[in-house]
Amino acid sequence: MKEQLEALRNEALAELAVLSDAKQLEDFRVRYLGKKGSVTALLRGMGALSAEERPVMGQLVNQLRQELESALSEKNTALQQAQQEAQLAAEKLDVTMPGKKIKSGGLHPLNVVLDDLIDIFQSMGFDVVDGPEVETDYYNFQALNVPEDHPARDMQDTFYLADNLLLRTQTSAAQARTMEERKPPIRIICPGRVYRADEVDATHSPVFHQIEGLVIDKGITMCDLKGVLEQFAQEIYGKETKVRFRPSFFPFTEPSVEVDVSCSECGGTGCRVCKGAGWIEILGAGMVHPSVLRMGGIDPEEYTGFAFGIGLDRLTTTRYKISDIRLLFENDQRFLEQFDR
Ligand code: PHE
Repeated sequence: MKEQLEALRNEALAELAVLSDAKQLEDFRVRYLGKKGSVTALLRGMGALSAEERPVMGQLVNQLRQELESALSEKNTALQQAQQEAQLAAEKLDVTMPGKKIKSGGLHPLNVVLDDLIDIFQSMGFDVVDGPEVETDYYNFQALNVPEDHPARDMQDTFYLADNLLLRTQTSAAQARTMEERKPPIRIICPGRVYRADEVDATHSPVFHQIEGLVIDKGITMCDLKGVLEQFAQEIYGKETKVRFRPSFFPFTEPSVEVDVSCSECGGTGCRVCKGAGWIEILGAGMVHPSVLRMGGIDPEEYTGFAFGIGLDRLTTTRYKISDIRLLFENDQRFLEQFDR
């Protein structure tokens, strides 16, 4: 029986040595030390022994049992440790490695300039309003004093979507909408995209951007218009900037002017940016035509107003000395990244 015991011991230890997971360990325990396990069976078999042999063998079997139990628990601890080490190695994070730089988006140059512009006009008490890009003929033309067969329609080649529906050719479409929604005093700007069937070249694009301005109150004059535009031009281009009005024509303003600012690059002597002129045209403006006020439900005997339409694209290209307007619409990252701020 001693040999049997010794054989069992060797077999068990050899088997234990190659086990590699918790489930196998549990099987092992059941097979050797469980109620029906081999070691337990040995104890049961002791009934057949003589009275002298019994305590000796009993002790030996118990020793074996203890030995296997402690080997098992050692193995268990070793396995757990190995598992933990493997996990740690797999999750290892070298905090000294250089990080990956995350590319973040930036503002488009048009939006950089627009944000500045909104700040300037808000500080003068203007609200920012929005208008639809798909517009009716009424708001884009008729309410602006341009009846159906008026030759002024030729000034702007229009994309028509349906009989009375078009892509707005000017943010001026916001004027009549605003007059319907608000009562004077009115002081708003309306920035947005406008569309004209123009050929694309370095200075023309079928989609471009305007900022409409509209002020209506009692006693508004051309001086107010000039004051507001001067303030705006000096904040955008610098304190020395001069503003010049040239007579012009728009059906919805009377009188109408085109407005130039002195070139911020050369100060007015003429250079590449202003194409030698010393001045840069940036907007059209004028006193709101009495018929436009009337159509908007405002009594021209009581109120007067001015309106202006700033070309945002021109403002942006001159400010950043961008030579081709198409760059603003091509979304080339190498171009756009220069304006991140
Ligand atoms: N809407 C005109 C244009 O697109 C600009 C303008 C706006 C002129 C407001 C006068 C008053 O050319």
